[in-house]
Order: sequence, then C-alpha cells, then structure tokens
Amino acid sequence: MENLNSVKTKEDALRLLNIALEHEWAVSFEYTIHAYSMPKGKYFYEDPIMKNKTDIRAQTIQIGIDEMYHSLQLGIIITQMGGVPSFKTDEVRRYPKIMDNLKRDKATEDMVTNLYQSAEFEESAFPKIENMIWNISYDEVRHSKQFEAMMEALKMEGTEESLCFQPNPENIHKEEVQLLHEITHLENELMHRYLKYVFLFGEHQDLTQRLFKNAIDHMRHWDKNSGILINMGDVIQIENAEKDENGVEVSKNPMPSTYPGEDRLTALETLTPKEENIIAKYEKIISLVEEGEIEDQLKLHLALNREHLFTVEWLLKNAQKIKDLK
Ligand SMILES: [Fe+2]
Ligand SMILES: [Fe+2]
Ligand SMILES: [Fe+2]
Repeated sequence: MENLNSVKTKEDALRLLNIALEHEWAVSFEYTIHAYSMPKGKYFYEDPIMKNKTDIRAQTIQIGIDEMYHSLQLGIIITQMGGVPSFKTDEVRRYPKIMDNLKRDKATEDMVTNLYQSAEFEESAFPKIENMIWNISYDEVRHSKQFEAMMEALKMEGTEESLCFQPNPENIHKEEVQLLHEITHLENELMHRYLKYVFLFGEHQDLTQRLFKNAIDHMRHWDKNSGILINMGDVIQIENAEKDENGVEVSKNPMPSTYPGEDRLTALETLTPKEENIIAKYEKIISLVEEGEIEDQLKLHLALNREHLFTVEWLLKNAQKIKDLK
C-alpha cells in the first residue's frame, strides 16, 4: 500500500480514497477467511473495548463486516466526487497457524491507521472527507487493539501453535464440495457486482436500496457457505491463491476486478443471467447432499436467489418501459 501524505486537489483526494478502498476490499475478505479457517467457540479473549469475554472467530467476522462498510462508504463518496471506485484489491494471505493470521491482521490495521492518519489535507479543502478519514481510522485503532488482545489470549492459553482447518484431500473427488466452492466464488462475485451498481446508482435511493439488499444477501450466503464447507470437512478457498513451501497462501486477485455495465440498462442486463446461473448450481448441489441441516441451509440460499431473480427481471423490464431513462 502506498501512502499519500499531501491531499490538495480533487485528484489527490480520489487517489487516497481508492488506495484505501483497495485495502478495505482486501481486509473485508482476509479477516472473514481467517475467521472461517478456525473453530467456532473454541478460542476466547477479553475484548479491551467491549470488556467482555468474546469468541475470537466471531469478533474477527464482525471486524470483516466493519471493513465491508468502510468499502461501501469509500465507494459511494468516490462516485459522488465523479471518480471511479476501484475493484482491485491488496494482497490477501492465509498462514497455516491461527496466531500468524492474527499477527498479520494487527499489522495490517496499524498500516492502514497510518495511511489514514498521515494524510495531510489542505485546510478547508475537503472537510467532510477529512472527517470521514479520521472516523474510519478510529475503527482501525479499535480493530488493532482487539487483534492485539486476541494474540495475547492465545499466548496466555498456550495455544499459539494452533493450526487453521485444512481441507481433507479426498474432497477433491467430492462433487458437492467442489460445487460449493464454485457457488461460493459466484456469491462473492455477485456481492461485489451488486455493490458496483449500488455505487453507480448512488444518487437515487430506489435502485441502491434494492441492489444493496441483494448484495448483503450474497455476502451472508458467502459467509454461511464458508461454515458449511467446514461441516463438509473442507475450508473456504482464497480465489487465485498460490501456496508456498511453508503452506502460506497468497492471492493478488481474491475477487474479479471488473464488472460490466456502465449505465442503468447495461448494468441491470447483466444480473438476470448471473442469478439464473447461481440458482441452477444451488439446484444441482441440493440434489447431491443428504437431507438435514446443510440441505436446509442451501435451500434458504436458493429461495432468496429466486427472489433476487424476480426482482432483477422486473428492474430491467421496468427500466425498459421508460423512454429516456438514464
Ligand atoms: Fe477498514
Ligand atoms: Fe480495520
Ligand atoms: Fe442472488
């Protein structure tokens, strides 16, 4: 991540916001992936802010969600300023040990706090943006303290060497596991695609509210699918990751960096085939799994995606009815 110290022009401000956005996309994944690589309800710490005994995994997911909201804020402001929000991301990593992931998370928080707090804005040039940057930076300060306390707790408990979940090698031959990975990549793609259109139509609440709801549903599906993968003896994948000899996975492209559609019609046209595709894959996977909790969960995802399909088909048709709609 490059630092940008002096913010004088609109171009400087947009540059800073996009550097920050590429960071926020990365950590919104990275933390959630780190969380879904460790067991639920096993490692606890005393949270320094909430003053409460807290599950490390659950709080790491919460921090990932905070980062998603930072991305949303930044994307909306960039678009309002006439810029184009970036969908590139900083590098995402996963280490074999839980402790090493937490170390990285804490170091990342300190680095981004520095990016935000070292930006020197020309006086009165962008007061609201300057204020927003300070506000975001104190979320990062809180996150850093929380990750620090999580690391302390692992040390105190003597669980510093605990490992992340590893996929069972036999799963390569299990169609339902491979299909769930594919579906989870699609959920990720759809969530970010919807967010791009949320930014694009940010000036009008009608489309943004509807599209944002779908983005959040897809984020939840991604999240729930990550839990299902653990129940299947697997673990959430980092897209386009390479693993080195020490078992460290690194990806520079954990999500697609471009999504087609630059106006109302061309954006909406892309959604129907995407929703149809994911629906077909959920129908297929449901036919492969046994009756029970996993099937019930997948059926809920399928049902909501069918609702999305109905919505996006009508968003498009209704837009086509209106002449000169931009
Ligand atoms: Fe953040
Ligand atoms: Fe953070
Ligand atoms: Fe959907």
